[in-house]
Amino acid sequence: MKKLISALLLLVTPVAAFASSGVHLDSADIDLNNKAAAQRGAKYFVNYCQGCHGLSYQRYERMAADLGLSKKEVMDNLVFTGAKFGQTMKNAMPKADAEKWFGTAPPDLSLIVRAKKGGADWLYTYLRSFYLDPSRPFGVNNHVFKDVGMPNVLWELQGLQIAKYRTEKDDSGHEHEVFEGFERVKPGKMSPEEFDAMVRDLTSFLAYVSEPAQLKRKSMGIWVIGFLLIFSILAYFLKKEYWKDVH
Ligand code: HEC
Repeated sequence: MKKLISALLLLVTPVAAFASSGVHLDSADIDLNNKAAAQRGAKYFVNYCQGCHGLSYQRYERMAADLGLSKKEVMDNLVFTGAKFGQTMKNAMPKADAEKWFGTAPPDLSLIVRAKKGGADWLYTYLRSFYLDPSRPFGVNNHVFKDVGMPNVLWELQGLQIAKYRTEKDDSGHEHEVFEGFERVKPGKMSPEEFDAMVRDLTSFLAYVSEPAQLKRKSMGIWVIGFLLIFSILAYFLKKEYWKDVH
């Protein structure tokens, strides 16, 4: 038993280790039942992200069915890679080129919302946390993902911002830099509220992609619990019946 417990502990340790990287995440506050938001998010994704990132587990056809879009709507407005309706939402860029240009190939985003601790909140905060940093190859850094290899692809919409820090002394007299927030130094095409709403839609879409069966699964849960309950009662009477003769 002890061995089993320590094996289980080993499995969870890497997750626990990340828990301490304490960057504050803003609440994405998404509503998975809001299909209109996910539809808008899909449009933003194909326009601003799919050039580099693919969704290799997501088929256009499945997305159409889940988000209530017709085949024509999808093919006319959301397919720019020459893909067919039944194919997956791969990116347009060959991996070798991507590695040459960015140093790292842009990862597939099919599971990104599930992969990150913080989930949708992480993604929502990440996409709004690029700031000017002349020491970086693309001139930007990211407060949530330090030294990220991705340029700020949404800067024209968001505008440009700098990160503000203040120096604080802790109890033992050591000085730290504490993040205070961002300051917009150049406005974008969108107001800050419009930009946040756009990123929320994009996050809704990628949250859907991370687990397309989520909505169905939640409504099925109640039936599963019901089944288990009934089954337990049956099992109890069955046990009584079997043991009756033994005692
Ligand atoms: C010009 C190419 C390019 C575009 C366009 C782009 N990205 Fe990226 N992205 C990258 C690269 C390169 C990385 C890898 C960064 C690294 O590992 O340092 C990355 C990393 C990421 C990550 C972190 C992934 C991880 O596994 O930690 C997320 C999330 C992400 N991108 C989301 C987006 C979204 C959403 C969009 C659209 C708004 C987008 N990206 C558009 C190039 C791009």
